[in-house]
Amino acid sequence: MTFPTFHAEAVSDFHPAPSVDEIAATQLHVAKSMPKEAGGIGILVGVDGEVPRELGLDRAQLAAAGFEGKVGQSLVIPRTDGPALVVVGMGAKSERDLNSLRHAAAAFARAGGHYAHLAITLPDVGGIAHDAAAQAVVEGVLLARYRYRPLKRMSQQEPPLKALTLMSSSLPADAVQRGVERGRITARAAELARDLSNAPATLLTARRLEEIARVVAASSDLDIEVFDEKALAKMGCGGMLGVNAGSSEPPRLIKLSYRPKDSKGKALEPVGRVSLIGKGIMYDSGGLGLKPNDLVHAAMKTDMSGAAAILAAMSALSSLGAKASVTGYLMCTDNMPGGKAMRLGDVLTARGGKTVEVLNTDAEGRLVMMDGLVLATEEQPPPDAILDIATLTGACERALGNDNAGVIGNHQGVVDQVCAAAEKSDETVWQFPLDKRLRQELDSEVADLKNVGGVNAGQITAALFLEEFVGGIPWAHIDMAGTSRVETDKSWRSKGATGYGTRLLIEFLLGFTAPRETRH
Ligand code: BES
Ligand code: MN
Ligand code: ZN
Repeated sequence: MTFPTFHAEAVSDFHPAPSVDEIAATQLHVAKSMPKEAGGIGILVGVDGEVPRELGLDRAQLAAAGFEGKVGQSLVIPRTDGPALVVVGMGAKSERDLNSLRHAAAAFARAGGHYAHLAITLPDVGGIAHDAAAQAVVEGVLLARYRYRPLKRMSQQEPPLKALTLMSSSLPADAVQRGVERGRITARAAELARDLSNAPATLLTARRLEEIARVVAASSDLDIEVFDEKALAKMGCGGMLGVNAGSSEPPRLIKLSYRPKDSKGKALEPVGRVSLIGKGIMYDSGGLGLKPNDLVHAAMKTDMSGAAAILAAMSALSSLGAKASVTGYLMCTDNMPGGKAMRLGDVLTARGGKTVEVLNTDAEGRLVMMDGLVLATEEQPPPDAILDIATLTGACERALGNDNAGVIGNHQGVVDQVCAAAEKSDETVWQFPLDKRLRQELDSEVADLKNVGGVNAGQITAALFLEEFVGGIPWAHIDMAGTSRVETDKSWRSKGATGYGTRLLIEFLLGFTAPRETRH
C-alpha cells in the first residue's frame, strides 16, 4: 500500500489501526497477591463502609485530603518502600453497579496514568457476578488508558499500559479469568473502533479500510465480501455512487457475515438474524455545500464511526460465542466537492428504485445508508431486525449533547433491546419519536423523497428518511453524532474518538431475541 507523498516520509511505517495487532496489547494477569513490578496499586474505598487497613490511613485523613470515596475520585500516595497507592472512590454501597465499577476503574487508570504496570484488587460487590465485575474493571482501565499513538514521534509523558493485574485472593479464579478474557475482547474491539475513527482521513481511505477489514475478518471468523464502484453500479446503489462522485477515492461496500457455530465448527441454527448498517463516510467535507473551516468540520474524519463500531463489534462475536447470525454492511466513501460531485437538485436512485432529490449535499449519510438498508431487507431469509448506526445529524448532538446517542425505531421491542444493551455497556441512548407528522417535510417536487427536512427535529426527519428503506422490518436507528468523540478525557472515554457503539452492539447481539410482536 502506498501513501500520498506528503505523508510518505513521515509515516512510512504507519498502521492506521494498531489495535488490530495483538502484540501491542496490554498484558492482563489474574493473581492472588501483589505483583512485584506494579508501579501503582489501586485501593477501592467507598463513601460508606470500612477503609481497607493496608492503606494505613483512616477516613478522617482521607477526607482532609479531599477524598470522600465518590466514584471518579482518586488520590495518589507515593511511597519510598513500594509501589504508589492509588486510592479510588467506589461510591455508596447502595449505588454500586457495573457502570460505577467501570467508572471507578477508569479513574484508577487515569490517576495512575504515569505507571506502566497497574494492579488492583477486584472487589466483591454484592449482587454483581464476579466475571462481570472483572470484565467491567478491565474495560474501564484499558479504555481509559487508550491513546492513539501511531503518529506520535516525540517522547510521551503517558506511557502505554504494559500490564494490568487483577488481584482476587478471595474470589473464584475461573470466574475472574473468564471476565478478564471478555473484558480483553470487548476493550480491544472498542480500541479498534477508536483507532479507525482517529486515523486521518487521507491515510484511512475506503480502500485501506477494506484491507483492514479483510485482516480482521480472517482472524475473527467472519466472511467478507467487498463491492467496488463497478459492483455498486451493477447493484443500483445510487446513494453510494452519488455521494462518492466528487471524490478521487473509490467507494467500498464492505459486507461482513457472522454465523454461529459449535465448538467443532459445525453451523448452529441461529437464535435470530440481525443486519447492521454503518455509516462509513471516511471524510465528510459537506460536498459542494462545503462545511466551514471549524471544529465540526475538523471532526469529520470520524464520520465513519458507525461502520467502525460494526466492524469492531463483529470482530468479537466468534470469541464471545454469539448465538445470533449477523450481517454487517459498512457503507464506505468520502463526501468530497470534486468536479464530478453531485449537485443540488440532482436525483439519485437508491437500490430498489426509490428516487431521492439531493437538496443538501451535506445530508450524505442517509444517502449511503439507504442502499445498505435496502440490501438488508433483501436477505434470504430476511433479518428479524435491522439496526443502523451513524454519525448522522448535528441536530441529535444539539438535542442530547455528548453523553447519549439518539435512538429511533419502528418497533419498540427492538428499541428496548437497544436501550438495555446501552445501559449495560454504559454507551447510553435516549429515544426520540418516529413522528409521522414530520414525514411530509421529505416530500420532493420531482422525486419520491428529498434528502432534507425543515430546520427543526433534524434527527427525526433523518430517521423518517431511513424508515422509507427498511420495508417494514423491525428496525432501530442509532444517531451517534454527539457520542462519537469527546474533547477531553471523561471516565473510560479518552479524548478523541470514543469507539461508541462497539460495546453496545456487542451486548445487543449477545442478548438478541427475535421480536414477535407487531410494530407499533
Ligand atoms: N456527519 C454529519 C453529522 C455530524 C455532525 C456528525 C456533527 C458528527 C458531529 C452529517 O453528514 C451532516 O452533515 N449532517 C447535517 C444534516 C443536515 C444537512 C440536514 C447536519 O447535521 O448539519
Ligand atoms: Mn454531512
Ligand atoms: Zn456526515
